[in-house]
Amino acid sequence: MNVLFVASECSPFVKTGGLADVIGSVPKALEHLGHTIKILLPAYPDVSGWLKHGDVLLELEDLFGGPARVYSVRAKGLNLLLLDAPHLYDRKGTLYLDEEGFDWEDNPVRFGALSLIGAKIGLDGIGGWKPELVHVHDWQAGLVPVYMKQSGRQAPPTVMTIHNIAFQGLFDGSVVQTLGLSEGMFNPDGFEYWGHAGFLKGGLAFADKITTVSPTYATELLTPEFGMGLEGLLRSRKQDLSGILNGIDLTVWDPQEDSALVKTYSPKSLKRKAANRQWLEDRFNLVSNADAPLFGVVSRLTTQKGLDLLLEVIPTLIERNARLVVLGNGDKKLEEAYLAAAAQAPDHVAVEIGYNEELAHQIQGGVDALLVPSRFEPCGLTQLYALRYGTIPVVSRTGGLADTVVDANAAALATKCATGIQYSPSTVEALEMAVHRTCDLFSDNKKWKSMMRRAMFAEVGWDQSAKLYEELYQSLVK
Ligand code: ADP
Ligand code: GLC
Repeated sequence: MNVLFVASECSPFVKTGGLADVIGSVPKALEHLGHTIKILLPAYPDVSGWLKHGDVLLELEDLFGGPARVYSVRAKGLNLLLLDAPHLYDRKGTLYLDEEGFDWEDNPVRFGALSLIGAKIGLDGIGGWKPELVHVHDWQAGLVPVYMKQSGRQAPPTVMTIHNIAFQGLFDGSVVQTLGLSEGMFNPDGFEYWGHAGFLKGGLAFADKITTVSPTYATELLTPEFGMGLEGLLRSRKQDLSGILNGIDLTVWDPQEDSALVKTYSPKSLKRKAANRQWLEDRFNLVSNADAPLFGVVSRLTTQKGLDLLLEVIPTLIERNARLVVLGNGDKKLEEAYLAAAAQAPDHVAVEIGYNEELAHQIQGGVDALLVPSRFEPCGLTQLYALRYGTIPVVSRTGGLADTVVDANAAALATKCATGIQYSPSTVEALEMAVHRTCDLFSDNKKWKSMMRRAMFAEVGWDQSAKLYEELYQSLVK
């Protein structure tokens, strides 16, 4: 089947979070099943180097204020359709934020344009290639189903995936005119959200099927606590909503081949993992202590991720002689609070503010346990990387974290199926208990080692989920 993906990020080219990892890996798994996936992606500066290797398949004199071209490139095992529109995407700063850290003012135009071109390719095809289905991801691609619907033409079916409902792409109603959207669809049954234009809402209203990235999050989304104002719409579309768990790229995240590690290892050579821990401890000048775990965090520093809660548990962690390495960036107050925590206990707490892919691998390989104390988590990928690296995930029981980690309760330990620690609710107290449980388990070397081994055998690739996407696509394409 020919499927067009429309998304704003794609690893290894441009990434701010897990969305990129998913867009960069699930197409490969679908290709193994015999499908052709092409990914429409803006040609930001980080990808524009690939344009010279591509063919121009579409040229427009004016796409909301400047010329645009779509290039087709095969790069790193992916079929990219790069939307080159320098007036929209060729700028310093990050994908969504300017150099001062504010949302680009013209984000509705930047991603309206991406959606418009997605819809055009959906309807007309490109370079002789015709998608039989269009799969759009998150708010940045949310207007694709809207534009296709308003064309009134026969269009391929659409699937919209919610990676995080906290980001809805809500903009002033004036964008309806700027983006040439139909006034007739700007109402509460369409893409209007309390007077604003809602990009995600539009996608959810008009896509044929809706998916999200874990079964638990799919049920959570129907509640006011997690649905963030869209629970009513999602409840009305419950029959069309399902949760398909994310997987990871097993070649990118492989402790047996990972060149970022000082020593690679497998379930059979777990002892070698210790060298990676030593390396991390040395790099950050942490005290070594074989009797207590080294905890790690690799995350955006935001309240979604519950990292304000973890700050309060640091004293407990230190009391237990455990140590902590944090790699992250985001909320400035949290960044400062973590730097202050590290300054206060430099032997036990190390913090690196910033985005560092290599260090992310080194932390996954080096720590004993990875903390993911999220308040909500659509899927979460870092706990999957941890499992693969024999690093025990310690997670709050929500969304995809609930679906991917088997808690080491007495029954699971007895039947040898535990792969990590889960706790609930997402509070300081419960997290503190989880840290105690982790330290207790760690001191039982035999139990801990067998849990590490089991974690490494957990199914975290795309095999199963790619088949579920395939089934969903086939149900729509007759
Ligand atoms: P989210 O997309 O909500 O941020 P995920 O767990 O799905 O959460 O994905 C986060 C991705 O971003 C993972 O690949 C993780 O390793 C990576 N990541 C997050 N913060 C950093 C960082 N500071 N440096 C390197 N990688 C990071
Ligand atoms: C979002 C979610 C995260 C998920 C990722 C990829 O960023 O916050 O939980 O893993 O998308 O689907």
